Amino acid sequence: MKALILSGGKGTRLRPLTYTGAKQLVPVANKPILWYGIESIIAAGITDIGIIISPETGAEVQAKTGNGDRFGAKITYILQDQPLGLAHAVKIARPFLQDSPFVMYLGDNLVQSQLDLFLDKFKSKHLDALTLLCEVENPTAFGVARVDQDGKVLELIEKPQVPPSNLALVGIYLFSPAIHEAIANIVPSARGELEITDAIQYLIETQKNVESFQLKGWWLDTGKKDDLLAANQVILDTCLDSTMAGEVDANSKISGRVHIGKGSRIINSTIRGPVTIGENCQIENCFIGPYSSIADRATIIDTEIEHSVILTEAKVIGIQQRIVDSLIGARVQLKVTPQRPKALRFMIGDDSQIELA
Ligand code: DAU
Repeated sequence: MKALILSGGKGTRLRPLTYTGAKQLVPVANKPILWYGIESIIAAGITDIGIIISPETGAEVQAKTGNGDRFGAKITYILQDQPLGLAHAVKIARPFLQDSPFVMYLGDNLVQSQLDLFLDKFKSKHLDALTLLCEVENPTAFGVARVDQDGKVLELIEKPQVPPSNLALVGIYLFSPAIHEAIANIVPSARGELEITDAIQYLIETQKNVESFQLKGWWLDTGKKDDLLAANQVILDTCLDSTMAGEVDANSKISGRVHIGKGSRIINSTIRGPVTIGENCQIENCFIGPYSSIADRATIIDTEIEHSVILTEAKVIGIQQRIVDSLIGARVQLKVTPQRPKALRFMIGDDSQIELA
């Protein structure tokens, strides 16, 4: 069994963050989204992993993630020149996949791990495709499945205007090598992509065994700011261990589950977990409230923050009002120096949003 993780494509929904970086590397609780997928694949016993990358962000994905040693896996990178669809990604990965069955995992999905149950069903029933489904409120934004009482898939439609059910295709699929013939028999969709949904529909129409597995835990599509904050909250709630590798001075108060990375210094501040703080951060005269993740080398001084994600090397200094529900990008500088500023001076990237509420 092999795994194919899709980490190419264009990250338009998390702009402006994804102008400069891969959306799969945006961190949730200080860990790239992509790594959660890698870890759950490995936890299911699969260690031969191919990762699809794009020319724009591939080098960054590769540099950050490495050859798999850090995870105890073997990672092969496969360059997709253009984002021509999920099925196109499988097509170009054929030399890596050969005739092995494989799990396909969309690199921007975050799922409570159940891969082994999913895998058992695929193997024991000798299926050609097993799709993971989850009930959603807005099925028009996803691939949607119609299934019978036993979970057999009767029909799949990509982003239907009139959805046949509220069961969305989660970005995790298991395939036998029959998928390659299916992909060879489909044509690009109206959005110009070779859709994996159409390839699975071809399997159904040619009487192959296609079944579904309904996800019981949470599934987070991290495409937008609020989804990312929700994902951050769930991960901090469920996966955060308290570890204190940094320094906390005597005037600071830490309560709840809090992780502080090595080299970070907490000075005269209150931190109320769940909160994760990366390495080499400086937090001085601050209140850091629940559900905040602060990435490596961030500096936060004279500021109150909660339910927010701050990326690497951001500097947030002297903000009197509490910062809430916010996503602050890498190397951003947000600074108020006098107590009552007479002017606001900005240099803000395209597509940024600032709200003085
Ligand atoms: O998130 C679940 C949904 O993912 C499913 O319900 C849909 O059926 C499925 O088509 C897919 O829809 P999206 O429109 O959300 O896919 P997106 O373009 O965001 O791509 C998903 C991941 O695959 C993302 O990490 C980028 C990567 N990708 C995408 C394309 C189109 C590639 O690596 N290569 C590609 O050509």
